[in-house]
Amino acid sequence: MSQIDRRHEHLIQTYRKKAKHYDVTSRLYPAPGYPQRAQRLRAVRALGLRAGDSVVDVACGTGLNFPLIEKVIGPGGRIVGVDLTDAMLAHAQDRVEANGWSNVSLVQADAAGFGFPAEVDAILSTYALSQVPECAEVIAHGAAALSGGGRWVVLDLKVPGSTPGWLAQLGTAAVRPFASIDEWIMRRPWEVIRAAMQEELADVSWTELCFGTAFLAAGSRAPGTLGDRE
Ligand SMILES: C[S@@+](CC[C@H](N)C(=O)[O-])C[C@H]1O[C@@H](n2cnc3c(N)ncnc32)[C@H](O)[C@@H]1O
Repeated sequence: MSQIDRRHEHLIQTYRKKAKHYDVTSRLYPAPGYPQRAQRLRAVRALGLRAGDSVVDVACGTGLNFPLIEKVIGPGGRIVGVDLTDAMLAHAQDRVEANGWSNVSLVQADAAGFGFPAEVDAILSTYALSQVPECAEVIAHGAAALSGGGRWVVLDLKVPGSTPGWLAQLGTAAVRPFASIDEWIMRRPWEVIRAAMQEELADVSWTELCFGTAFLAAGSRAPGTLGDRE
């Protein structure tokens, strides 16, 4: 088994254990009282969706973003949810069936190797992309697939700029399952994500949330490219 496979195997096993109670336990993520739902709403609003839009949710987990997206795109739109973990997708599928949505496709794949559908209107990733070592490539692949004017939005956790190392380790204990916390802090994936978005997209905005413990990054595919939105 290659190193990548081993890393994925560990991650998948971790999320298989979490999947059943994820919708409840994620409300305590990364800490009890954390304004996760408000941040999600903000992220979905930043997509600037319209009725009929197509949206890819990268590392969608159990589909907690789907109701917020469905509310805007309606039955004429389309969601593609991508995730590495079968058990998380099984819960996403339950959500899809319980809501009677017929416009959601779920794909089990590594975000790093996922072939984005062409001319997608919006791409979202919440609380997940910083776990993907190839996050810059994921942003580039997504940006290339966006229609002109289409939006890429990433919401994720980060270490506040002025935090001492020991406090950062405590505060970000939530990411322990994915890699060693030291590796995550040292890799500084939020900086990689920011740089990749600036490289690949136009009008990039960067907003730090909740005292710098999270960020919302958003950008558009430059207009004037094929498939411009009207
Ligand atoms: C903390 S959960 C977030 C789920 C969802 N986006 C949300 O906001 O609730 C992280 C998710 O990322 C997925 N994941 C981690 N690495 C991945 C990768 N390389 N490709 C696809 N999904 C991945 C996990 O399976 C898990 O479902």
